[in-house]
Amino acid sequence: MIIKPRTRGFICLTSHPDGTAVNIKNQIDYVKSQGEIKNGPKKVLVIGASTGFGISSRIAAAFGSGAATIGVFFEKPAAEGKPGTAGWYNSAAFEKEAQNAGLYAKSINGDAFSDEIKQQTIDLIKKDLGTVDLVVYSLASPRRTHPKTGVAYASVLKPIGQTFSNKTVDFHTGVVSDITINPIESQEDIDNTIAVMGGEDWRFWMEDLQKAGVLANGVKTVAYSYIGPELTFPIYRNGTIGQAKNDLEATASTINTILKDLNGEAYVSVNKALVTQSSSAIPVVPLYISLLYKVMKEKGIHEGTIEQMYRLFNDRLYTADGTIPLDAEGRIRIDDWEMREDVQQEVDKLWKQATTENLEQISDIEGYRNDFFNLFGFNFDSIDYDAEANEQVNVPSI
Ligand code: NAD
Ligand code: NA
Repeated sequence: MIIKPRTRGFICLTSHPDGTAVNIKNQIDYVKSQGEIKNGPKKVLVIGASTGFGISSRIAAAFGSGAATIGVFFEKPAAEGKPGTAGWYNSAAFEKEAQNAGLYAKSINGDAFSDEIKQQTIDLIKKDLGTVDLVVYSLASPRRTHPKTGVAYASVLKPIGQTFSNKTVDFHTGVVSDITINPIESQEDIDNTIAVMGGEDWRFWMEDLQKAGVLANGVKTVAYSYIGPELTFPIYRNGTIGQAKNDLEATASTINTILKDLNGEAYVSVNKALVTQSSSAIPVVPLYISLLYKVMKEKGIHEGTIEQMYRLFNDRLYTADGTIPLDAEGRIRIDDWEMREDVQQEVDKLWKQATTENLEQISDIEGYRNDFFNLFGFNFDSIDYDAEANEQVNVPSI
């Protein structure tokens, strides 16, 4: 079929199999150009492995460290005249490249929050790898069905305590407008968001993997968090999602206890704000990202998910002398360049100026848009989007 981008709000409903393959190939080439991650992981489980930071983690582990990888995700193949999801095609392309490079790669498609998918994953590790030495937890989801109670939780993106008013942008049209977001009305909004994006599921995974004996001695696990600038605090770090991130971060120490006998370690890495399917859904954040991109590109310190994940592995999790640099709260910081004083001061200045009229000049809204379409395999020069594409692409191991 001929596949063009079709968007509804911040969602892109279509994905291009050949374009997503280019995206994956570019990320692999980047990792290869950086060289081997010494003392890197060898057998890796990535939960949330198909898009964003998760697929980049998988690529960094496989092509930077020669790791065998198992990826868990929730994606859809093509059906009834509709192309598959970007994460489906990403995973298909990744597995093909891994096979060509002689690297073990298998994937499991299903609800990672469920006990069934955890068991399937454990069975696969037992059968093929024995143990894993790194578990990356990179899930982002708006909802979770609790595996023990069956209760379905939906997360919310709301401030706590007071109404939040600020600028936002529709990144498709470039229209900057004022947005007012009402605060939560009850504690339930916080509890629901913690149930979806907090640390419980990460803990369930690590408990199950530990009990099944599929974690290697010295295993590491890492989950991803975000802090960001003060201007997004009301909607992000001090909002409902921030409460879930506090919970996720606190869970690292619980998991450390679970991993004690294995000499294992649990970490939270605070990552940079980047265009992914998840971040484009958060109000105010896309305008911040488009200004941040402008400033960081001008300073020559811009990174995408693959640059971030290579740096996480090479300069944080697997350093030459084995020490992992942490902040005062015990977190890994690869948002260090985003949070630099000079970067934030300039973003702040631009934030105050930003209007629909000057947005194209003072921000990198074009870079934002390009990254957004790239996520779905669009906007790549090497692809002819008027040509027929084969949407029936399989993930080889599924
Ligand atoms: P993403 O939407 O690109 O990736 C989410 C992944 O989770 C996908 O692989 C998807 O298939 C998988 N997934 C979702 N629900 C699932 C389910 N029920 N079962 C199995 N798999 C499921 O998101 P992302 O932006 O890469 O986010 C990953 C993590 O990084 C999140 O914790 C996020 O908060 C964090 N983070 C993101 C940013 C950012 O700017 N994007 C910054 C810092 C931290
Ligand atoms: Na991810």
